[in-house]
Amino acid sequence: MCGIVGYLGNQQAQGVLLDCLGRLEYRGYDSAGIATIDGGKLGMLRCAGKNADLQSLVDRSPLPGGIGIAHTRWATHGRPTDSNSHPHTDCNGALAIVHNGIIENYPELKEQMEDDGHRFVSQTDSEVIAHLIEANFTANIEGGLISAVRKALSLIQGTYALAVISQQEADKIVVARSGGPPLVIGHTDDGLYISSDIAAILHYTRDIQILEDNEIAEICRDGATISLLDGTPVDRARIQIDWQQNAAERNGYPHFMLKEIHEQPQAVLETIKGQTLLADGAVLFPQAAYTTTSQFCLTRRVTILACGSSWHAGLVGKHLIESISGTPVDVDIASEYRYRPQFSHAGTLAIGISQSGETADTLGALKTARNSGAGILAICNVNGSSMGREADGVIYTHAGPEIGVASTKTFTCQLTALVLFAISLGLANGNLSARAAKALLQDLLRLPLLIERILAQSEALAGLARLFDGATNALYLGRGVLFPLAIEGALKLKEISYIHAEAYPAGELKHGPIALIDRNIPIVVIATQGPLYEKLLTAIQEVKARDGAVLVMATDGDRKIGAIVEHVFYLPATTELLMPILMAVPLQLLAYHIAARRGCEIDQPRNLAKSVTVD
Ligand code: AGP
Repeated sequence: MCGIVGYLGNQQAQGVLLDCLGRLEYRGYDSAGIATIDGGKLGMLRCAGKNADLQSLVDRSPLPGGIGIAHTRWATHGRPTDSNSHPHTDCNGALAIVHNGIIENYPELKEQMEDDGHRFVSQTDSEVIAHLIEANFTANIEGGLISAVRKALSLIQGTYALAVISQQEADKIVVARSGGPPLVIGHTDDGLYISSDIAAILHYTRDIQILEDNEIAEICRDGATISLLDGTPVDRARIQIDWQQNAAERNGYPHFMLKEIHEQPQAVLETIKGQTLLADGAVLFPQAAYTTTSQFCLTRRVTILACGSSWHAGLVGKHLIESISGTPVDVDIASEYRYRPQFSHAGTLAIGISQSGETADTLGALKTARNSGAGILAICNVNGSSMGREADGVIYTHAGPEIGVASTKTFTCQLTALVLFAISLGLANGNLSARAAKALLQDLLRLPLLIERILAQSEALAGLARLFDGATNALYLGRGVLFPLAIEGALKLKEISYIHAEAYPAGELKHGPIALIDRNIPIVVIATQGPLYEKLLTAIQEVKARDGAVLVMATDGDRKIGAIVEHVFYLPATTELLMPILMAVPLQLLAYHIAARRGCEIDQPRNLAKSVTVD
């Protein structure tokens, strides 16, 4: 949830660190801080607020030095205050640490350290790490800083990705990770970088080493030495990242979210092209050989595990997989699933869907499913993520880095990957003919153009956004494979405009929610052509009869709907099962324009963070 970054090289660290921290801000923006070492002296600045607030502090009193670490925070323990900001130091201010994760046993450790005379200045869990390292460092244990860090970490229960610098060993950064929070090392001739994610250092290097769980590394001018926490040396390959350098830039858009909405035609196409499509309609997933095994053909049940928007994609996935492959699907919210009684999952394939590949609850749920005998597949967007490494196979969405906290292009790419997965399973178990598979793939390949046509109508949605002026509540209705899009549309609105919004299957309306309806609550009804169209018209009539302010998402050429309601947005037609991929776009744009009219912080909505690495 927090973002950490470090640099050691020929340049002045503060400039590099603040630049990268700006690209990590979507991970948390409650406070920020930086520490550097110059001439063996540690300097530190930190404050509640955003990166920009830290920048003005640094402008007033620059921190020299070619080595440093920095942090942007999503508060878990202790309010967003100056003293709770990272970096945290020891009693003498001789070493500094930045931490992402949660230390569960910090109260006991803190009490013990205070008994030993350590003075704490924050309410955070993280500060205890600095004092534990200090205690082991001054104990002069053999092996210097890295051994002191290793010893300190052996006492900690919880999750962490952290970086440490110290005056005593002013030419190195020690980093470590355990339990989830990601950490990567970037290599250049000019210096070395560490970061919570690749996108933040992408414009400095594409030469990356991924630090895996329970690993520690000593970063010096001549390279990184990686080992397990128990000291066993590790030889970790470096990977070359193929993302566009400006992928983490806004490219002239007012917000990353709008840029990423407009990247969807390309992202969906890249996600399709990122797999291998065979002449007979078969789909091969380069990192999921599991889907070519006999075990895959014998999949009797699929369990989809995810959180937030990824869970919504899973709900669409249920319709896709059941309709196309004839295989029953359960969809579960990961944070609930992992604490429920488990039954044998023999013959079950568990699919974890996650943009970041780092969401702690989804990771935990996948491990639970594995322990009950399920095969594990991951659908995620980040190469080298924890989920990718946990699973038996990965279907990568090729959306590129997503900076806006509200997921958009990764959602439509998850749906695209689920269509390809359903086709693959349907062909493998004989439920789908090659002819039908080819037809579906043809329709899928047409979607990028249809999405372009929707994006071209963004201004029309900006106009419809006026319907929500002054609204404090909203209702979204849909049916069948499009009901999950009603939920997703409502979440987008909640996330970025702070309007309370609920979604219901339209058939449920008369069983309660209809009581909410009056002229003050805008209602978005997803009513594209399909087997439930007439039923949706009835729901619209019921809403109109109570003066509800209705906005309908309809299919191009639908003459009937225009006669019933005033406000309609028309989408190009496609097959029913693929309509969710199109429908996501106008719902995203609508939420975007509503939030923009309210001047909301669209890319960094309050209280949220892009990937939730704690549970
Ligand atoms: C969606 O806009 C949110 N960012 C959030 O609900 C997100 O989908 C959820 O935290 C899951 O994240 P993941 O896909 O990285 O696992």
